[in-house]
Amino acid sequence: MARGRSVADVTIPEDVLRYYERGGESERLLTGGGALELVRTRDVLRRLLPASPSRIADVGGAFGVHARWLAEDGHEVHVVDPVPLHVEHAARLPGVTAGLGDARRLPLADASHDVVLLLGPLYHLLDRADRITAWREAARVVRPGGLVAAATISRFAGLHDGLRRPGLADPGAHDMIERSVRTGEHVPRAGEPWFTEAYFHLPGEPVEEAREAGLAAPAEFAVEGVAWMLPDAEIDAALADPVRRDHLLWTLRETEREPSLLGASSHLLTAATRPRS
Ligand SMILES: C[S@@+](CC[C@H](N)C(=O)[O-])C[C@H]1O[C@@H](n2cnc3c(N)ncnc32)[C@H](O)[C@@H]1O
Repeated sequence: MARGRSVADVTIPEDVLRYYERGGESERLLTGGGALELVRTRDVLRRLLPASPSRIADVGGAFGVHARWLAEDGHEVHVVDPVPLHVEHAARLPGVTAGLGDARRLPLADASHDVVLLLGPLYHLLDRADRITAWREAARVVRPGGLVAAATISRFAGLHDGLRRPGLADPGAHDMIERSVRTGEHVPRAGEPWFTEAYFHLPGEPVEEAREAGLAAPAEFAVEGVAWMLPDAEIDAALADPVRRDHLLWTLRETEREPSLLGASSHLLTAATRPRS
């Protein structure tokens, strides 16, 4: 694990802070596979969220790409993120508040929100104990009966990304990719531009983590399904054409809960509820 840096009372690995201080999250979800991730995350969440207005904590919300549409849908959104650049930007969005914080120690009161989103923190926590702590914190902050929804990266995302990115075809990248497939630990080589240290979940693991944290009825959804393997230009063209977009969304809804296909998706969304008693 890389050395950490403290901002306010939040300590985050130095390489994670440096990676996000480049500002890439402001545009990551605008095109190609990122746009598909945004559209599909919204599609699944809109079917799970309570009617607006509800109080939503968007933990790891970055620049507020999800907070923006949630606020436009009429929800009251508070972004929590450890990166000051992210918090500054998210706080400027209409209807959104933001503050520094760590998913493992949320600066939020017990049962203060209807929904807690963890769309990012879990894959940055390599130790399972830390991930359970983050799930427990979400369970503490959400009201009884409320929703916790968490994004994870698939165990095979790095391997399959190698079919799309010429740089990962370099045999020098094979050790890094093989380690992520065998153990879930993505540890980039020094100077690697792809992504920071991260944990890649197998399907079923997020469900076990949520249950261990005391949450009920966890259900997994494939976010991009197999469609993330399409070339980015093809994804953009499909999303821009109303008929093709509807067809794409219908196709992915048809298989979003299919266990034999979950691991083919780049991301999974796991939704669970806090028991009422
Ligand atoms: C890939 S971004 C995802 C941003 C956005 N939620 C989305 O779905 O596109 C991961 C986010 O998790 C945040 N993060 C990393 N470690 C965290 C932690 N320990 N607690 C809370 N957020 C964390 C990062 O700062 C970043 O904003």
